[in-house]
Amino acid sequence: MSTSSNNMPTPALPSTFGVRIAGTGSCVPDRVLSNKDLEKMLDTSDEWIVQRTGIRERRICDPEKGESNRTLCVKALGRALEDAHMQASELDLIIIATCTGESTVPAVACRVAAELGAEGAAAFDLVAACSGFVFALNTAHALVRAGAFNTVGVVGCDQMSSILDYTDRSVCILFGDAAGAAVVRVTDDPAKGLITQCMHADGTGWPDLYLPRHAEQLIAAGASEDTPLGKLKMNGRAVYKFAVSRFSELIEETLQKANLTVEQIDHFVCHQSNARILESARERFGIPEEKMYVNIDHYGNSSAGSVPLCFDQLRQAGKITDGQLVMFLAFGAGLTWGSSLWRL
Ligand code: COA
Repeated sequence: MSTSSNNMPTPALPSTFGVRIAGTGSCVPDRVLSNKDLEKMLDTSDEWIVQRTGIRERRICDPEKGESNRTLCVKALGRALEDAHMQASELDLIIIATCTGESTVPAVACRVAAELGAEGAAAFDLVAACSGFVFALNTAHALVRAGAFNTVGVVGCDQMSSILDYTDRSVCILFGDAAGAAVVRVTDDPAKGLITQCMHADGTGWPDLYLPRHAEQLIAAGASEDTPLGKLKMNGRAVYKFAVSRFSELIEETLQKANLTVEQIDHFVCHQSNARILESARERFGIPEEKMYVNIDHYGNSSAGSVPLCFDQLRQAGKITDGQLVMFLAFGAGLTWGSSLWRL
């Protein structure tokens, strides 16, 4: 066996160092698709959508203006770098959580790195649907703590409008497009960083929320064979039940692992799936409204974009301060669910 120092394992980050979120950014398309607009396209109503979901409008990309998942990612990460007072060349890894990338080969992250000028940075995409940003944040933290990277750009982005069937009222009313980003990097303050995380998946529930690519998937999911391919399919009631129960379990599990109470957490930054789902968890745990930010009324469910969009909006509004405890929570297709608890 070679004893060359090149083959030595990378030393883990010493415990005298911490990991911090040095900057955040986000981007949503300008184009607004309101419930009133949907009323003109579908047999639905503003009243039905607001009552069942809390959504009033969502943003969607305008492909004619060249907007896409990739352009949202570039802007969101560019803004996060600006917020962190950093150059793209200082990034040594970019992770993009998305399930709507315009290509799988290459990964969206590679093109985003090139467009931002993050020369030499490693780059890959991570697919965990709506849980994607939380999974990517946990991954970034673990890689920094392992000593593999110093500075990681983490992006959550979905262009849901590209995978929606705008004749299917049971699904298309829920989703919008958005990207959010965070720059995660080493700091000499050991108090900062991830306290604990939870990540789970239950693949047996895949037919409740999936993007069919082949007729075989439709057959396996028990869906009608004339269902359009490439458009999101959802069993709304099953996903609702899953989300309500897993969301509560996730909060309990995270608090237990960290040996903390609800009262000690400053912000619960949650995936925006449905205002009623958020409200049920808030009531169950007695979380005050100001600790659980909700923006679903304006942006709908933007999948992997929703958690980092909320976080960036909270930071830009000055509501997040240094040293606070923030719990990120998400759940989605897979089925997947996960949390990330940070001391900022
Ligand atoms: N406008 C008007 N009526 C609609 C409608 C729409 N956009 N979508 C469905 N309906 C109708 C249904 O056809 C049904 O009519 P029927 O009673 O005549 O059969 C009725 O409304 C109730 O449908 P149902 O699907 O039972 O509604 P619901 O109360 O479960 O609400 C969701 C539907 C999608 C809002 C809800 O199930 C939900 O939010 N699920 C979770 C979705 C989610 O969060 N997904 C992402 C997870 S990351």
